[in-house]
Amino acid sequence: MNAVVLDAEWQIRPMHPSDIPRVAAIDRAAYEFPWTAGIFDDCLRVGYSSWVAVSMGDRIDGYAMMSMAAGEGHILNVCVDPGRQRTGCGRQLVEHLLEIAVTAELTIVFLEVRPTNTAALTLYRKLGFREIGRRPNYYPAAGGREDAVMLAWERTLS
Ligand SMILES: CC(C)(COP(=O)(O)OP(=O)(O)OC[C@H]1O[C@@H](n2cnc3c(N)ncnc32)[C@H](O)[C@@H]1OP(=O)(O)O)[C@@H](O)C(=O)NCCC(=O)NCCS
Repeated sequence: MNAVVLDAEWQIRPMHPSDIPRVAAIDRAAYEFPWTAGIFDDCLRVGYSSWVAVSMGDRIDGYAMMSMAAGEGHILNVCVDPGRQRTGCGRQLVEHLLEIAVTAELTIVFLEVRPTNTAALTLYRKLGFREIGRRPNYYPAAGGREDAVMLAWERTLS
C-alpha cells in the first residue's frame, strides 16, 4: 500500500453528526439493505473512526467507518455515491483507513463482504486483503440470507 496518495482527488475529513442525512442517503442509494441514520449516529457516538470523502467544496462522495480495539481494526462500511463510483474514491477511502491502521499500530484489519460484490472484492484484494474464511448466512438477501467472505489485511512489520 502507498502511504501517500499522490493523486488524491478527495479531501478525507472526519464524519460529523450533521453529515449523517447525506451519508444515509448515499447508503440508501448504494445498498439494497442500507443502514438507518440511527446506526450511523451510534457509530459516531461510540467513536468509530468515521470519514467522509468530499469534493467540490463539501460535496460528500463517499464514506468509510472502522472500529479499532485491542490492536485490531474492523472495517464496518465503505461506500461511494453510485454516481461517483469507479473514479477512485473507494480506493482512496480504504487507503485512508489503512493509513489510520498503520498509525494506530494495528496488526490486522478485518472486514466482511458479500461474495457477489465483485467491485468491493476486487478493490480489497488490490489493496492487499486476503480471504480468511466465510460467515454462513451473514447478510440479509432477496431470497433469504447470503454468506459473507471474511477478508483480512495484515500490517507488514519491519
Ligand atoms: C465497492 C466500492 C466502495 C468501490 O468504490 P469505487 O470508488 O467505485 O472504486 P474505485 O473507483 O476506487 O475502484 C478501485 C478498484 O476497485 C475495482 N473495482 C471498483 N469497482 C469495480 C467494479 N464495478 N467491477 C470490478 N472492479 C471494480 C477496480 O479494480 C478498481 O480499479 P480500476 O478502476 O483502476 O480498475 C463501491 O462500488 C461501492 O460503494 N459499492 C456499494 C457499497 C459497497 O458494496 N461497499 C462495500 C461493502 S464491503
